[in-house]
Amino acid sequence: MDKIVINGGTPLTGTVEISGAKNAALPVLFGTILTADRCVIENVPEILDVDLTLEILEKMGAKVRRDHTTVEIDTRDILPCRSPYELVSRMRGSTYLIGAELGRFKQAKVGMTGGCNFGIRPIDQHVKGFKALGATVDTRGGYVEAFADELVGCEVYFDKVSVGATVNVILASVFAKGTTVLESAAREPHIVDLANFLNACGANITGAGTDTIKIKGVEKLHGCTYAIIPDMIEAGTFMFAAAATGGNVKINNVIPKHLDSISAKLSEMGVYVEELDDAIIVRRDGDMKNINVKTRPYPGFPTDMQPQMTALLCFAKGDSKVIEGVWDNRFRYVEELRKTGAYIDVAGETAIIHGGAAELVGAPMRSVDLRAGAAMVIMGLAVNGRTEIVDIHTIERGYDNIVKKLRGLGADIRKVSF
Ligand code: EPU
Repeated sequence: MDKIVINGGTPLTGTVEISGAKNAALPVLFGTILTADRCVIENVPEILDVDLTLEILEKMGAKVRRDHTTVEIDTRDILPCRSPYELVSRMRGSTYLIGAELGRFKQAKVGMTGGCNFGIRPIDQHVKGFKALGATVDTRGGYVEAFADELVGCEVYFDKVSVGATVNVILASVFAKGTTVLESAAREPHIVDLANFLNACGANITGAGTDTIKIKGVEKLHGCTYAIIPDMIEAGTFMFAAAATGGNVKINNVIPKHLDSISAKLSEMGVYVEELDDAIIVRRDGDMKNINVKTRPYPGFPTDMQPQMTALLCFAKGDSKVIEGVWDNRFRYVEELRKTGAYIDVAGETAIIHGGAAELVGAPMRSVDLRAGAAMVIMGLAVNGRTEIVDIHTIERGYDNIVKKLRGLGADIRKVSF
């Protein structure tokens, strides 16, 4: 097993390159099933969730060649209902197999998926969309099974804004007869990236990035070469790490617009943020002010930056409030952060962070999920003393070479086997 060991207290300085977005790469990689052709996907992050996705696709019959961040996939010989339960159950993103299999083969069978555990993760909105397209769906027995004689364009009004349901129903409707209209769709940049990829393969999708998405069914898709967008959450994590350590970091390969809600909060705290064309500079010399923040679907402040925000606010002066507005149990990591001496109260979906209450010190911590682990890394970098983080596979699910990138910014951090 591996752990991350940090001797904290060094301000981060220098330049870091951001990798491709996990939450765009997964739908695009599963989306290649629809093309039944060869696709070349570039800027794919080197993370465990991508390793798992490619393994699942291979087990289903795809031919995969990977050269660092470039992945060539040929899904011609893929068969539906063949994904191994023990693999798909490890990752939430594998729900996208349902939409992709249903779209191409009009039948799907996929094990109930896992992923980060922060509350109930229902799929009722995915099922609602599949049924509206004409599919019969059965979610009993640990699998989701769906089939249809014919998929027909329809209107789906989501009761809850869901990234996963939006992706899945787009995938399922690409070949449906007529036009499918998704109302109250998620607007995240990764939804736009998926639509751009599918359109590059010959699909007819408009409105991605707004809450109304129209998919006109087409007969067939072809392969293409496509590059994944930069990861806004990885970029945000480095921005917060720079601020927490009182550093000065240039973060390259970003789309600054995607980071608006994150940059705005940093500016409100008194941190210097400068947007360049495809880079962002974050610098802090003075104290940080306390703020309040509530997570919301895009373009609101992202839930996937919530734990990192809590960690950062431990270094601001005064009381801050963080309200989780997306998931119902995403504060499990607070217990671990408290080991540093951090004074954080949690009641339901609200955390009150009493910043500057005491000098914080390094501590052993257990990463309970991907972004929680990132928050612990930020904490470890910013406090004096030694921090050891275990269960780091949760972090490596979604951060590409995080230890190496932080070392490049001068951090005393290493991965140690034990
Ligand atoms: N929801 C429903 N019914 C559904 C689907 C979702 O009620 O059918 C609810 C959920 O319970 C939750 C909310 O809707 O309260 C949002 O869930 P969503 O479906 O948007 O989440 P997801 O697709 O399962 C993706 C990301 C998560 C990220 C959320 C929200 C991927 C693979 N995962 O999950 O990312 O937190 O969107 O932005 O894209 C992460 O990267 O660390 C991560 C957990």
